[in-house]
Amino acid sequence: EKRTVPYDIIGEETLSKLVDAFYYRVARHPDLIPIFPEDLTEVARKQKQFLTQFLGGPTLYSDEHGHPMMRARHLPHEITPKRAKAWLSCMSAAMDEVKLDGSIREQFFSRLVLTAQHMVNTPDTTI
Ligand code: HEM
Repeated sequence: EKRTVPYDIIGEETLSKLVDAFYYRVARHPDLIPIFPEDLTEVARKQKQFLTQFLGGPTLYSDEHGHPMMRARHLPHEITPKRAKAWLSCMSAAMDEVKLDGSIREQFFSRLVLTAQHMVNTPDTTI
């Protein structure tokens, strides 16, 4: 039988709502607006694919886009510690909105904290 992964617990519907709630906030966050495109449809679609596989679900992102190499894909964008903090605050608020809580939320969020830190490529002082 198959092992239960976080994706099975969270589910496709909640994950999709989470990503929509997240980008709703990204689009309105003063620290994030400058680096994101106006139309977030495509990045939200890719994020749903990425988080599905990040949580142990089907490899939707890699199937369509190849190796995630997330740090490399973020290099064209100035990701400062301040922006990583803003990203995580949008995600935390989105998790509140979709009522994702308990240990599944804690585990998911702490992995996102590590991933966000890994994405930082520019010091705060340059902006
Ligand atoms: C793409 C910002 C962290 C997953 C992007 C883009 C920006 C961005 C500006 C490109 C949007 C576009 O023009 O299409 C940030 C910032 C972060 C951050 C400021 C703060 C640390 C993360 C984290 C993850 C992630 C932690 C995953 C857990 C993605 C994905 C894409 C993306 C999947 C689409 C990549 C593609 O084009 O295939 N991000 N990001 N990002 N980000 Fe982030």
